[in-house]
Amino acid sequence: MRERIAFYIRRIKAGALKSRMRQTVWIYQYARHYWLPMIFYTALGMVGTVVALLTSLVSRDLVDIITGHHAGAVVKTFALMIGLNVGSTLLNLVSSYASSYISMRVDAEIKADIFDKILVTDWESLTNYHTGDLLTRWSSDASNISSGVLNFIPNLIIYTFRFLSAFAMVVYHDWTFALFAMMGAPVSLLMTRRLIKRMSRNNQNSAAMAAKMSGFNQETFSNIQTIKAFDLVRLYIDRLKGLQKEYIDMRLKFQKMSMGTSLLMSTVGLVVSYASYGWGIFRMWRGGISYGTMTMFLSLSGTLTGTLNNLTSLFPNAISLTTSAKRLMDIVEMPREDYSQDGEVEELKERYAKEGISLCLENVKYAYRNGTEVFKSASLEAHPHEIVALVGPSGEGKTTMLRLILSLMPVQGGRAVLCGGDTGLKDGDAAGFPLSPSTRKLFSYVPQGNTMFSGTIAENMRNVKPDAGEEEIVEVLKLACAWDFVEKLPDGIHSKIKERGGGFSEGQAQRLSIARALLRRSPILLLDEATSALDVATERKVLQNIMEDAYPRTCIVTTHRPTVLNACNRVYAIRQGGCVVLGEEEIDDMIRGF
Ligand SMILES: Nc1ncnc2c1ncn2[C@@H]1O[C@H](COP(=O)(O)OP(=O)(O)O)[C@@H](O)[C@H]1O
Ligand SMILES: [Mg+2]
Repeated sequence: MRERIAFYIRRIKAGALKSRMRQTVWIYQYARHYWLPMIFYTALGMVGTVVALLTSLVSRDLVDIITGHHAGAVVKTFALMIGLNVGSTLLNLVSSYASSYISMRVDAEIKADIFDKILVTDWESLTNYHTGDLLTRWSSDASNISSGVLNFIPNLIIYTFRFLSAFAMVVYHDWTFALFAMMGAPVSLLMTRRLIKRMSRNNQNSAAMAAKMSGFNQETFSNIQTIKAFDLVRLYIDRLKGLQKEYIDMRLKFQKMSMGTSLLMSTVGLVVSYASYGWGIFRMWRGGISYGTMTMFLSLSGTLTGTLNNLTSLFPNAISLTTSAKRLMDIVEMPREDYSQDGEVEELKERYAKEGISLCLENVKYAYRNGTEVFKSASLEAHPHEIVALVGPSGEGKTTMLRLILSLMPVQGGRAVLCGGDTGLKDGDAAGFPLSPSTRKLFSYVPQGNTMFSGTIAENMRNVKPDAGEEEIVEVLKLACAWDFVEKLPDGIHSKIKERGGGFSEGQAQRLSIARALLRRSPILLLDEATSALDVATERKVLQNIMEDAYPRTCIVTTHRPTVLNACNRVYAIRQGGCVVLGEEEIDDMIRGF
């Protein structure tokens, strides 16, 4: 016994209980807006209990009247009985409506909140999760919580009330029956302990499995072309079957365990009800109770056993709920991006609407969390009406530099600021507006790979500028050298783009992406190998058009092809963790050597 107590104390100290508490509080922060419906639901449950107890009293009277044990109006009692039954049915209906109302509302609220939080979570932290995993947490775990919210505190109150009132009623009439009715309690409690452990493990396993499945499906469906090209169709079908088998085996194992528990519980229930029955007959035979009282005891003992089972099953449910809460909290509690500078950035943009905005990086350092050090001390500047190129072999840090500029990751040393106009940063100048997630609204970014959404060309364009007119769209398409092919499409700018740019060649999709970025008219434009699929002449033309555009745009392009470098104002090469400005000769050498 002492060992047991010591064990629990150790567990409490280890924080197992504390974290369950924290998870419970977290869950109820969503439910608390619905405290009124929840109180209503709880009250309904309690009224239902009272009605059920009254029914058993009336049923006792009815049986006693019919068996002639005592006199009374049969019709009146019968009518009362029917009334109570109808009342209980209505109560059940209303209560199930209240319960769906609460769970659906809580479900929507949790999902909207988590969606929001996922979108503003620090980018690098989020990349540790597979999208399949994120999706499972967002959908299944949130649903699990919302459907279980009522199962926790409100049902705990209702069942406790039901148990205590039924128990009080039995004790009031004949305490010996209480002993029989409670015979099963120790077994129930023992079972619960076993269940809790298994449930907890099962929940974790099945959530992990669901995440794996969803990730697998999502990747398969979005890479069908690759799977076909490598002739992997059979392999992928077999992989799915393997995953399904793994999942089914796991579920069946759990099911078998639950079956054992259920069998034991039902056996205990049977033993209890036979024992109560026997005891009832014995008491009746001795003339201690009437036939009606005996039927009442039988129904109350059923209520007691049932409610006790309900009560004990709340604990495994609570475990499942808190496990889901933990999985969601893992995501929600990752570092959040700071958008507190939004107002100041808006002001900066307006103040320098005519001059444009410069970008200055000084001795910037950055290493990814896995230890890959990309920049030791990198400096770079770019001004309005300039195109600055960032070159270097693949894997050198071009994309990383753009991510730093976008504040997807914060720089770990040095200074990264924006300055109004084209003055730039003087030595030791303290001025400048530090880069942050808020400054992202000053940028347009065309990343590597395809970024078009499904919808028409015009819809894609209006994604970034909802009020863009047709002429405006045509104009940016011309700037991006996309008008040539869009013009020839039967539906022009209203032609449909399929998922991830489907229906267009890569070079065409790139030009559409650039057009969209130009339409946004942001002071700073970042192109990450965004012209890599264009022929050299078109690439040069696109850059020239951007240069000649009257809008005061600061443009940074990354490329591993030196062919366009002499169209740029300045060329930086990423070397040994820094950015080196290349001279004309070096650039010419590169072009010749390409
Ligand atoms: N999310 C990431 N986590 C860890 N390392 C990364 C990540 N993204 C890129 N890297 C590493 O950083 C280096 C620079 O990558 P990147 O900037 O993408 O190169 P590129 O010049 O081809 O655009 C590479 O060594 C790459 O392995
Ligand atoms: Mg790259």
